[in-house]
Amino acid sequence: MTQTTAGGPQHVAIIMDGNGRWATSRGRPRLFGHHAGARRVKEIVTACPDLGVKYLTIFAFSTENWKRTQTEVSGLMTLFRRFIVRETRGLVNEGVRVRFIGDRVQLDKKLVKLMDELEAVTEGNDRVHLTVALNYGGRDEVARATRRLAQDVASGNLEPDDINEETLPKYLDTCVLPDPDLVIRTSGEARISNFLLWQSAYAEYEFIDTLWPDFSRDIFGHIVGKFSGRNRRFGGASV
Ligand code: FPP
Repeated sequence: MTQTTAGGPQHVAIIMDGNGRWATSRGRPRLFGHHAGARRVKEIVTACPDLGVKYLTIFAFSTENWKRTQTEVSGLMTLFRRFIVRETRGLVNEGVRVRFIGDRVQLDKKLVKLMDELEAVTEGNDRVHLTVALNYGGRDEVARATRRLAQDVASGNLEPDDINEETLPKYLDTCVLPDPDLVIRTSGEARISNFLLWQSAYAEYEFIDTLWPDFSRDIFGHIVGKFSGRNRRFGGASV
């Protein structure tokens, strides 16, 4: 399959890295950087419709992030709760449909309730689809999917011969989303850190030095524009 993405990426995924360094370089606590990062989330979500980006998926908290200090983890959880409460009205008005991916079992019940409510209240929206990865890890997602798949086989609802590249993704957290066309990581690190492992098989990657709190609508627009000229071959030959 050969495809020139003249229309730009439909689905952009972002690893928002560098909040801690941004704060430390200013002599401030790491949470100060996360708060600045949250403001950028809002800016980038609202930029999507003009850029033709229909799906935006952001990595907010990984299954590995629990290893951070208790102060940082609980500060981040409070930030997520407050972000939902504060931004719900704006997200609804902007036509944003919000979904969360990741394992909710370890999350605080109050936070999960707010996540469920935000998903429900934005369910009818279709202008932008924002997916927030919270307590998400790609390997964990594949393991959880495999567990459900095995349960379906055990109960006779699925034949082992029917497990293939089409059926397996139906068990992933992202089952209703298209695969990302473009994955951006900020802060100069060139790693994918367990983000959307299955889904990014054919994604383009963009690693930029900018720290997440300095990321802007203009930088986002520039990267999206650059992607539009790329020729994606999905393993086929160029024409
Ligand atoms: C990575 O920077 C950032 C995170 C682990 C958290 C991402 C969270 C936000 C941007 C806050 C708001 C999000 C939402 C959805 C409201 P880092 O701390 O690893 O930076 P460092 O590598 O410089 O330490």
